Amino acid sequence: EVQPILVQGPMPIEAENFADKLSDVEEETSGTFVFYKGKLDGYPVIVAKTGKGMENTAAATAVAIELYNPAAIINQGTSGGHDPNLNVFDIVLGEKTTNIGSLKTGDRADGEGIKPTNWIPMDLMASEGSAGEDPDAEKARFFEGDEDLLAAAKAVKDVHTEGKVVEGTIGSADVWNNEVDRIQWFHENYGTSVEEMEGAAGAQIAKAYDVPFLGIRILSNNKTNGGQYNPETASANQEYVFEVVKEYIDSY
Ligand code: 5AD
Repeated sequence: EVQPILVQGPMPIEAENFADKLSDVEEETSGTFVFYKGKLDGYPVIVAKTGKGMENTAAATAVAIELYNPAAIINQGTSGGHDPNLNVFDIVLGEKTTNIGSLKTGDRADGEGIKPTNWIPMDLMASEGSAGEDPDAEKARFFEGDEDLLAAAKAVKDVHTEGKVVEGTIGSADVWNNEVDRIQWFHENYGTSVEEMEGAAGAQIAKAYDVPFLGIRILSNNKTNGGQYNPETASANQEYVFEVVKEYIDSY
């Protein structure tokens, strides 16, 4: 049987436009997750409306893999810029995705305060031992975007006319950062291009099952250069990802 392509979007505005483009759609739910099972040029494509955040995304990814055995997963939606060279409506292809909420604090006693700039990245997948004690865990984990999905995405760059399409690093956590100095800290220490709340969770579970994965994120806001939030970006990203999926089906 033909394995479907799975396209994930957290919010209704990030999933329903894509689902509307499919034919023969059947809707299935599991918990709070909604799966729109349809066809694109006769090929099976499933849109997953996952809900926002790392937990929803991880669970929705595992459920979808068990239920539908997808050939590839694209996690897409909006994001906030960490790179001042990126503007609202630009799109970042997640060459790498990393969890920017996975941190270990410095060692500070009672009354010594809180120093977030001294916190260090923590890799929960580094070993089976305690991440608090294991020196190997004192680093960020970067999940690599799948090469074929990246190639398909690069091949159709030109269809996105409202902004540019670049490769970069997507940082994920259940945090919305509005402190520009903190955003710059992530940009410098993790090389993040954008932040959002889902990619690294999807990437980690996709990797656990060895399913090809790519994050594709449009900037809906960028605090570093005054880019005002624009929800219209969500549908623009789905238009682009639709072309990526078509290209992937045709070429891989
Ligand atoms: N920071 C964090 N998440 C953001 N999102 C859009 N912009 C940002 C930002 N600056 C996305 C998240 C989540 C929802 C709040 O929008 O991925 O799904």
